Amino acid sequence: MRVLAIETSCDETAAAVVERSGAFDGRILSNIIYSQFKEHEAFGGVVPEIAARAHAELIEPVIRRALQEAGCTLSDMDAIAATSGPGLIGGLIVGVMAAKAMAASSGKPFLGINHLEGHALTAGLTDGIHFPYLLLLVSGGHTQVLLVKGVGDYERWATTIDDALGEAFDKTAKLLGLQWPGGPEVERRAAMGNPSRFAFPRPLKGEKRLDFSFSGLKTAVRMASETIDFTSEKDVADICASFQQAVGDTLHERLTRSLDAFRERFPDAVEPVLVVAGGVAANKAIRAMLTELAADKGFRFLAPPMNLCTDNAAMIAWAAAERLALGQSDPLDLVPRPRWPLDEANVSTFGSGRKGPKA
Ligand code: KG4
Ligand code: ZN
Repeated sequence: MRVLAIETSCDETAAAVVERSGAFDGRILSNIIYSQFKEHEAFGGVVPEIAARAHAELIEPVIRRALQEAGCTLSDMDAIAATSGPGLIGGLIVGVMAAKAMAASSGKPFLGINHLEGHALTAGLTDGIHFPYLLLLVSGGHTQVLLVKGVGDYERWATTIDDALGEAFDKTAKLLGLQWPGGPEVERRAAMGNPSRFAFPRPLKGEKRLDFSFSGLKTAVRMASETIDFTSEKDVADICASFQQAVGDTLHERLTRSLDAFRERFPDAVEPVLVVAGGVAANKAIRAMLTELAADKGFRFLAPPMNLCTDNAAMIAWAAAERLALGQSDPLDLVPRPRWPLDEANVSTFGSGRKGPKA
């Protein structure tokens, strides 16, 4: 079964072809990603209007290349899919319209896929991981812990009640006058700084709920930044290091609770799996902390290759193939949804299904 999918929910214009041979058995035939870094760099964050326009210009060549690299034509596909939410509406419309047009003209089924479901199911594509497992998604738009029980069967255990983690990195960088996106730059500076110089808060520490919060940390960074010399590399590095340490400690404390909750829920699981996804997973200090935490708790830690951790269309194609295998598809009048929590039963929590500009 072969699926062509499109991802345009934020600032990546992406298309991919994935082949599914059976359950937990998939192969990526092509995975084209155009990151709109240059388009948004000067603005220090994603500008929705510019993103939508860039998607409209790039979508056709990106799809063509995805088919070309896969050595396929549209007629070799079993379905056409696109991310239909959550995300920036302009981009979602571009991707969904393109997929619908191809589906209508070729007579193939169309599927509108939840972006978060793409992230949630990636471990099945990359490593054949079986359900249930725990996913930590930490990107510029989302910070969630999801229990992945099966295709279409998710429980959102934790979300951020304010900023996403990547957003906190980006805002810290902006405060310090560092370039966007902030994560890599903050990480680079942090490596040269003193992590205990500034006593930043560990938000929600000690609370039983599993959620995250990062806005208090951002405020503390802002106040600290008013006391330093911006031209001093040492001062900037110390703030970055202290911030990253606070983030690491917070993730550790919060996530420990989710890992314990998983153990309680599945006491017979022999080697439970913790999967990480999202741009923040590129951070080596955070990765090292997660690796150690998982080992301490007897979990296998899995971080898919970086280009499948961040936004891509292969994950959307795989989620679509999984759904198609269950006999599902969507009508051509499906409407994209800017907000679309994976776990509809739990929509009341503030911040659910959040995805938007990063700055
Ligand atoms: O998943 P992603 O590429 O895009 C979406 O948000 O959908 O994540 C981008 C986010 C940005 O906020 C960026 O600053 C952050 O991931 N990021 C990092 C690192 N690399 C990227 N955060 C911390 N450390 C990094 N090395
Ligand atoms: Zn994403």
